[in-house]
Amino acid sequence: MTTPPVSAPSFRAPKGTYDLLPPQSAEHLAVREALAAPVRRAGYGYAETPGFEQVELFARGVGESTDIVTKEMYTLTTKGGDRLALRPEGTASVLRAALEAGLHKAGNLPVKLWYSGSYYRYERPQKGRYRHFAQVGAEAIGAEDPALDAELIILAVDGYRSLGLTGFRLLLNSLGDRECRPAYRAVLQDFLRGLDLDDETRKRIEINPLRVLDDKRDQVRARLGGAPLMRDHLCEACRDYHDEVRELLGAAGVPFEDDPRLVRGLDYYTRTTFEFVHDGLGAQSAIGGGGRYDGLSEMIGGPALPSVGWALGVDRTVLALRAEGVAPKVPPATEVYAVPLGGQARRTLFSLVTELRRAGVAADFAYGGRGLKNAMKSANRSGARFALVAGERDLAEGVVQLKDLHSGEQTAVPLSAAGEEVRARFGSSS
Ligand code: HAM
Repeated sequence: MTTPPVSAPSFRAPKGTYDLLPPQSAEHLAVREALAAPVRRAGYGYAETPGFEQVELFARGVGESTDIVTKEMYTLTTKGGDRLALRPEGTASVLRAALEAGLHKAGNLPVKLWYSGSYYRYERPQKGRYRHFAQVGAEAIGAEDPALDAELIILAVDGYRSLGLTGFRLLLNSLGDRECRPAYRAVLQDFLRGLDLDDETRKRIEINPLRVLDDKRDQVRARLGGAPLMRDHLCEACRDYHDEVRELLGAAGVPFEDDPRLVRGLDYYTRTTFEFVHDGLGAQSAIGGGGRYDGLSEMIGGPALPSVGWALGVDRTVLALRAEGVAPKVPPATEVYAVPLGGQARRTLFSLVTELRRAGVAADFAYGGRGLKNAMKSANRSGARFALVAGERDLAEGVVQLKDLHSGEQTAVPLSAAGEEVRARFGSSS
């Protein structure tokens, strides 16, 4: 009887997504950890929220007229009739969770939270722009203090720098507040209405004129030359606040560029807004961004809680590192690889591997009863520094062979001291 031909796998990762598998997955994990480390050291506690929320949370929070809400949300209606959306961003979710739990009532403001996870946007996929991507984010909820804005920006810069990233720039702007923005908005609308623009852009002038300033099309940009800028219309409080943020950044050795046209694609921003861009990435150059969102809590039914935060893109940070030729430091997946020859050695080395792992050594084992040659190939491929090899004769002599896979040097070590010996060598070899 012949077996039917095995057909090629017919499923692929959905468009705009990719799988993370070894060895590249280790790079992503290292980037996530490095970006989160500075906020963890600065009093931010870990938050995790569901991957989906009520559509209305994002519609109200991110803004009805934003691309994210009008075009990019993955929405669904449950069998129970709830309208849900896969989260396109983290700020609205994290603030919703903090309000729901009453964290702001504990009297210890700001509530500082960090998070890391998957986000979903139905965007046109291209390099650096995916439909499923990862962010590390941080939010400081319930305090209005320029030092808090500066803290978050500094912590993001420290995260990028700890990875060895150098070719990024910080763009900084202030979008004013409810005092000064309405008047500026009206002045901007007057200016824009006088321009020769297409119908869609004319509609945007009425709904969200600031977004027109951020238009990337050359024909629109060419007409915006003399557009009034928010920075010339900031009220005194906003101007002082912004000056203080700038001063604190300067004192911390964080260079920035004032970008009076930086608007960002989410409607909740007030005052400080910023973006980190990397010039080695092409069109999708933003590796992170954020700002202050003093009105968001009230927009989603909470009390007044002025807040600030950011989200850093993990996928794009990985691409930026590659563009700079910098490899994030990845701990070795395996440090010691055990190769048993025969049944008794198998049991003995298996115990030794367990002991090593419990002592914090990354150890692996040649499973599947392969011969010495194949097992040594696996040992080399695993990236391990040492192999522990033992056959019946070694065991009879009470030893295991410890082989340095870099130098090829091999020494017999007493079995009873093998764990200690490996740990000692490890300390000196790494
Ligand atoms: P955002 O600018 O929409 O802000 O996203 C932050 C970062 O996520 C971007 O700079 C980019 O690196 C990454 N990112 C966004 N979309 C994609 C995509 N389709 N593919 C790959 N990477 C992407 C926010 O999400 C706000 N919640 C940030 C914030 C927090 N503001 C205040 N607090």
